[in-house]
Amino acid sequence: MKTSELRQKFLKFFESKGHQIVPSSSLVPHDDPTLLFTNAGMNQFKDVFLGFDKRPYSRATTAQKCVRAGGKHNDLENVGYTARHHTFFEMMGNFSFGDYFKRDAVKFAWEFLTSPEWLNIPQEKLLATVYAEDDEAYAIWRDEIGLPESRIIRIGDNKGSRYASDNFWQMGDTGPCGPCSEIFYDHGSHIWGGPPGSAEEDGDRFIEIWNCVFMQYNRDEAGNMNPLPKPSVDTGMGLERMAAVMQHVNSNYEIDLFDNLLKAAARETGVPFSMDVPSLKVIADHIRACSFLIADGVLPSNEGRGYVLRRIIRRAVRHGYKLGCKEAFFYKLVPDLVKEMGSAYPELAEKQAQIADALKNEETRFAQTLETGMALLENALAGGGRTLGGEVIFKLYDTYGFPYDLTADICRERGIEMDEAGFNREMEAQRARARAAQSFKADTQLAYDGGDTEFIGYTERKTEAVILALYKDGEPVDELAEGDSGAVVLDNTPFYAESGGQVGDVGYICAGENRFEVRDTQKIKAAVSGQFGVLVSGRLKKGDRVSAEIDHALRDANMRNHSATHLMHQALRDVLGSHVEQKGSLVTAELTRFDISHPQAVSAEEIAEVERRVNAAILANVAVEAAVMSMEEAQKTGAVMLFGEKYGETVRVLQMGGFSTELCGGTHVARTGDIGFFKIVSEGGIAAGVRRIEAITGLNALAWAQKQEQLLKNIIGEVKAQTERDVLAKIQANAAQNKALEKELARAKAELAVHAGAKLLERAKDLGGALLVAAQVEADAAALRDMVTDLSGKSDKAVILLAAVNGGKVSLCAGVSKPLTAKVKAGDLVKSAAEQIGGKGGGRPDLAQAGGTDAAKLPEVLAGVESWVAAKLA
Ligand code: ALA
Repeated sequence: MKTSELRQKFLKFFESKGHQIVPSSSLVPHDDPTLLFTNAGMNQFKDVFLGFDKRPYSRATTAQKCVRAGGKHNDLENVGYTARHHTFFEMMGNFSFGDYFKRDAVKFAWEFLTSPEWLNIPQEKLLATVYAEDDEAYAIWRDEIGLPESRIIRIGDNKGSRYASDNFWQMGDTGPCGPCSEIFYDHGSHIWGGPPGSAEEDGDRFIEIWNCVFMQYNRDEAGNMNPLPKPSVDTGMGLERMAAVMQHVNSNYEIDLFDNLLKAAARETGVPFSMDVPSLKVIADHIRACSFLIADGVLPSNEGRGYVLRRIIRRAVRHGYKLGCKEAFFYKLVPDLVKEMGSAYPELAEKQAQIADALKNEETRFAQTLETGMALLENALAGGGRTLGGEVIFKLYDTYGFPYDLTADICRERGIEMDEAGFNREMEAQRARARAAQSFKADTQLAYDGGDTEFIGYTERKTEAVILALYKDGEPVDELAEGDSGAVVLDNTPFYAESGGQVGDVGYICAGENRFEVRDTQKIKAAVSGQFGVLVSGRLKKGDRVSAEIDHALRDANMRNHSATHLMHQALRDVLGSHVEQKGSLVTAELTRFDISHPQAVSAEEIAEVERRVNAAILANVAVEAAVMSMEEAQKTGAVMLFGEKYGETVRVLQMGGFSTELCGGTHVARTGDIGFFKIVSEGGIAAGVRRIEAITGLNALAWAQKQEQLLKNIIGEVKAQTERDVLAKIQANAAQNKALEKELARAKAELAVHAGAKLLERAKDLGGALLVAAQVEADAAALRDMVTDLSGKSDKAVILLAAVNGGKVSLCAGVSKPLTAKVKAGDLVKSAAEQIGGKGGGRPDLAQAGGTDAAKLPEVLAGVESWVAAKLA
């Protein structure tokens, strides 16, 4: 039976039972802020259950589009690696709004599944679960349906709190909910797995196909269960799972609908079609979620639903890339999907072109990001380490726009751990940088009501002045004595008070032998600046005549960096685009630190171009001219103004030839040539969409270049290269040699392990019918399996149980020589051992694996294996 036929049959069946066929609702639950995407058939009826909304029918049936990615029910990471996880799926449902309740819900489901007129599934293939306390449902299954008690399973609150149970369904943290009864299908003993509630329930043998929820309560935010106006029914039958049952396959990916999508994925990625390539499944799954989301109006973006869509598209593209696809391919699957599902969901066909366009756009945008990001990631993983550092994960995320879970996906495939704590540290550090960027200010709250300070520092560096006020530890005083720290206010001053990002000047205020060392200058009122520092010798009194002089070298360095900032600002706008806005600025003697709005990392090429342009403007050596004018006049000059900044009526326009015109109150070089060499030394993100660039000039830039040169010389010496030119070749040769050695080492280790294995066999305990080895070894789970396979193959009566402890987790692997498996089963052995150490597991009779947590019990467990095996042999 084809999937489309099954969909129709379901609706027809419930129509024949008096249900109204209602179309699927949109994947975007427009009226429900508690929900990211529609995730169950009942969503569109939420208010009907709650009694807030009335419909002209009391029974309904639907085929509902659902997405479970992001939000409460999130399956994204599992998709592609399991037989039945999907981002998008269809849920068939029948609903009763205060009409029938448990009895009819169960009877309808049973009739549809088993009646020869409908699906005709053999009854003995079906099991049911009920909520542990639900005697009523239990009795219906036993007495009215006639299901044997052995196939009715009660499940209680198995998820850690009251009503947290596989058999208690709730839509979200709040909303309608109730106990449920699930119907399971047994795919047969050739598939591993156990019935619901057993240790092996996660296997693929017993599969839940239908959930009948008996809606009884409305859970509120405080967690109270308020009874619904009328008991109701909400059911969900997974269409893909049911199709698998009807088509006698175990995996959803083997049903007709997916078969065609998988073939389309293979065609577009150019790889041979195979069920064993998870990436093809990922692509086939994701094309459904992405196309349906776009059809329902979601577009890729950086937040909310659009972000989840973006992540799904990027995950699909990444898997295509993994199969060798460097060009946009994903959008080419849209026609195949329309062919499969377009008649059931006409919106797909209607919006086909729009969907393909949106996908293609996003794919193209992501291609470059992917290429650079993957190169970085490969590089980081090339060393063969088992953990990916937090810094790398952060860099991928921050600089390359690699979603965290994309990196997680790649790591998972390769068995690499992620340094999550390190990543969180980097994120926190970034937040701290953003905070610091916002609040760079000293405490300058001083009580002052005297006259203004005249700032003469644009032209003068030294002046005679009168002390208008003195402060000690923040309080006004008449006099400062040696050792006092405080502040001095002068009637006129060459000291520039910090503003516009440029730090305050430092220097000295002296009267003869009396010297006050100025360590900072800050405005204490709009037109009054305070020189802050320490009286290093003598004393100073209010009213004293003093001479005030700034530190020339530091001021020169400040000015070089400030003027360079203007040139850089303009060059950034020219190179990156006029969206670039100044978001923060700090100019000190050491560097200029400039924050701009820009959505992604500034590339190395862009940085080089900015440097080239700034240095060209410096070499042009044009005069730097400042003019004070009205705001109106300033606007006519086209000067760059900061958005959101308050300017007075008159402003100072600073012009550097044709290279830059900007409003600025800072101090600047006389000609651009005074700046000297300009060099950007770092670029990084400090918040979403904000980049920070640091650059240096003059002698600092020279010192930087000299240091780089020295570094290169050291490297040349270290790798014993003759010239700069062959230094790279040397490093590459070293890396290659390293790799070769690592390989050799891995080979040697593997040999040692085999050797150790052989030793183990020599010391095996002969139990008459079997040779037993039960031991703890040093190996990871994969190596453990290799050892066991190797050992059990060496004898025709070996029983092996090996254990290893890695990072507190216990891995167990059991192997039994094939001829002996009639008596001793590896699956049973590993299960019995795992249960004693708080784990579970199983597998084939000849090879089985398990895990556990209680490493301390291991010696006891291993010692007990002998009697266990002996009992089996007896
Ligand atoms: N709403 C129920 C579920 O999603 C039927 O399982």
